[in-house]
Amino acid sequence: MEHVFMTHASSLALLCDFIRFPSVSTDPSRKAAVSACADWLAAHLQSIGLSSEVLPTPGHPVVLARNVHKAGRPTVLIYGHYDVQPEEPLAAWTTPPFEPQIRNGVLFARGAADNKGQIFAHVEGVAATMREQGDLPVNIIFLIEGEEEIGSDHLEAFLEAHRDELRCDVIAVSDTGMVAAGVPTLTYGLRGIAAMEVRVNGPATDLHSGIYGGAVRNPAVVLARLVASLHDATGVVAVDGFYEGVLPLADWERAAWARVPFGETQIEAVTGTRALGGEPGFSALERIWGRPTAELNGIGGGFQGEGTKTVIPRTAFAKLTFRLVPVQEPARVLEAVERHLRRECPEGVTLEIHCGHSGEPYVCDPHSVWGEAAQRALRRALPGHEVALIREGGSIPIVNTFKRVLGVDTLLLGLALPDCRAHGPDENFPVANFEAGMALNRALLEELAKGAGAIR
Ligand code: BES
Ligand code: ZN
Repeated sequence: MEHVFMTHASSLALLCDFIRFPSVSTDPSRKAAVSACADWLAAHLQSIGLSSEVLPTPGHPVVLARNVHKAGRPTVLIYGHYDVQPEEPLAAWTTPPFEPQIRNGVLFARGAADNKGQIFAHVEGVAATMREQGDLPVNIIFLIEGEEEIGSDHLEAFLEAHRDELRCDVIAVSDTGMVAAGVPTLTYGLRGIAAMEVRVNGPATDLHSGIYGGAVRNPAVVLARLVASLHDATGVVAVDGFYEGVLPLADWERAAWARVPFGETQIEAVTGTRALGGEPGFSALERIWGRPTAELNGIGGGFQGEGTKTVIPRTAFAKLTFRLVPVQEPARVLEAVERHLRRECPEGVTLEIHCGHSGEPYVCDPHSVWGEAAQRALRRALPGHEVALIREGGSIPIVNTFKRVLGVDTLLLGLALPDCRAHGPDENFPVANFEAGMALNRALLEELAKGAGAIR
């Protein structure tokens, strides 16, 4: 026990070093920190006995590492990201976001859960096995990127350019959640995403709303109506063609999700909301995991200061994202939304539409040979509960690209809890989950090695 404790203590200290880099990929002023984080990670992977390299991309670098590959055992690629979301609003954090602190057995910091704590559990699981056994039961490739939080724009070309080096049998990712503390969770589907920014331009300049109001169209009002027109009064997305290609939920998954020890009560508690809403005819989990949505992420224009200013703003903007499910196609959804907005837009203003990053939805078979091996590993690392088989509402766009470019399925083994506050203030990850993640990595590599026997 003492020995185990010491090992975990040093892994935890290293995780804190990893977290201290403010590797915010979207912030140009953090470019050097992002790159220093990649260098640190590669040096650490080298120090545990892997060969590692930092490879540049037109954006942030990719970290690759591998053991000495041997014939006759499967090759497992473990993917994760070392970039993080911005820390704002800073004042809402209990302790500074890049100064990790453990309170009551929970590590608080930006990146603690998404994704530094989760990917580092795999790194430290591998480190422990290497230390104790001198080798791993499988050929391993770590692919840890720095642009996940901004859409992984350069990773597809990277996969194509390094296709041979990245050839593998299965991919494992811990960048998702578990349904409740201690409940082993295998995620077999993720939503896709498509982003769009809409701007409504009106008069040549801001106008006095007394002198011109009533006759000149107000771009902020037009924008509000356009955004509101995306849904009908019941919560169904009202864009023609939006639901094209959406596969109905299978009976087995609706039944499995109904048994998951997480639902409306917990969602209300974790999010601090009183009554949930959404598309009629579906449970909250079905709406999040299995149905597409249209979201308004930000809206602006006009006077934002204290007090009143009687003005018709010249322009107003909205940032939208659409979460997609199999087999919606991001490009087609964006076309449908653009058609809708142009049709609904009145005369007298102009619409400026910019499409942002996108990623396809993903689903795989949790009962494949690899899926079953993952379930065995989850049971070993988190004993005492049935494995929850779920889909999730978040997006990891590269997962579908892995399937398309490398032809390989991804096992999503989440370790973050529903109240991990990913992307928010006081992001956190229990130390127990970090330790379970290390145990999971070791069990997973062993079970995947056995699973390969079943395939041959
Ligand atoms: N780890 C998340 C994705 C996630 C969260 C999957 C929860 C399942 C459950 C990932 O780092 C993330 O936040 N992705 C972004 C992708 C986007 C910026 C392209 C997302 O989902 O918003
Ligand atoms: Zn994230």
